[in-house]
Amino acid sequence: MLKNFWWPLAFSHEITEKPKRITALKQEFVLYRTPDKMAHVLSDLCVHRGGALSDGWMNGNCIVCPYHGWEFETDGACVKVPANVKNVPVPKKARVDSYPTVEKYNFVWAFLGDLPEAERPPLPELPHYGRPDMKAIYGEYHWPVLYERALENSMDAAHAPFVHGGAFGNREEPEIPLYEVNYYDFGAEMTVTLKPPKKNIKGSWSKMYDEERPGVKTRAGFFMPCVTLLEVNLPLGLMVLLNFHIPIDDTKTVTKYINLRTFFKGNWADRDAHKRVVKIFNEDRPIVIAQRPELLPYDLGAELHVKSDAIQIAYRQMRNKYIDMGWGIDSHRIEAEFAREQAVVIPSPARREVPELAKAWVMKEVPYKKPGKLKDTDSHE
Ligand code: FES
Ligand SMILES: [Fe+2]
Repeated sequence: MLKNFWWPLAFSHEITEKPKRITALKQEFVLYRTPDKMAHVLSDLCVHRGGALSDGWMNGNCIVCPYHGWEFETDGACVKVPANVKNVPVPKKARVDSYPTVEKYNFVWAFLGDLPEAERPPLPELPHYGRPDMKAIYGEYHWPVLYERALENSMDAAHAPFVHGGAFGNREEPEIPLYEVNYYDFGAEMTVTLKPPKKNIKGSWSKMYDEERPGVKTRAGFFMPCVTLLEVNLPLGLMVLLNFHIPIDDTKTVTKYINLRTFFKGNWADRDAHKRVVKIFNEDRPIVIAQRPELLPYDLGAELHVKSDAIQIAYRQMRNKYIDMGWGIDSHRIEAEFAREQAVVIPSPARREVPELAKAWVMKEVPYKKPGKLKDTDSHE
């Protein structure tokens, strides 16, 4: 789990003027809209007694804590302490972390970190989204695994013949052609042409493989910190699966997906399309749950890689680079050292932007992984 990235936290259609609690990166957030419909993300931890703002309500632009009624502006500053008698000022320290928030690709994204605006990594470029020739559906899948195991699984070509024998793979022709990894600033991708499955496809997609069996051109890639792209050129048309792997904590992930297709664009085919996505996840599920260690090793030598794993290696190297920069949230230490007695939060930009407050934050920052090569005992995420 990395700070200083834009993290997708919820679908836009899930967020209303009623505050909603979202747990992600082992943190609690409150997401809501102000009357101007803008989405906002605050730490869901009232600075007074740790009440959950998400159980509160809105008063104009302010979110009201349900415990003692403190009111917080969208920038996280408390503007009202109802128990104070008239003319007693609101303490300067009465402030929660507020995270820069944008909406794109039907997601609410929060910048979880304290970098100034000019230094923030960008949101991923997802050009399939919004294409008029593609039908999009939205769904989610929960699994009891670390998000990085799910993420790597999503762009793993070599497992398809073994885990998804029916729809995507052909166990008699499992070779993955050598491929180049193309890097972008905050991600990478590869393209391979895979052998088509045998003619055992059922249902409305069966027509695809009736006659000749062309190769299936497949593109897979990732965008930091948690998005994967899978583009499959089926005989019927293009199918794209964008997965947003959102860590709840070290062992729970919700993968929200956008599935796009250029064929069967009527609503009648949506249910079938969802079923196909969920079937794939269900086939992956026992395999990914059984992987050990549960967490993705920091040490590249801790698992054995072959040529076809190049895209996952690209991910691990990039992830390690950000851990080495001190951006890796040490959720193991959050659990071990802080969990019950001290709430810790991902620092928001205001911690750097408002120098007179620099030392005044009541909630302390999350701990980070030590940069550099970690000892085995430290290499937890
Ligand atoms: S805990 Fe939020 S106002 Fe007291
Ligand atoms: Fe899979």
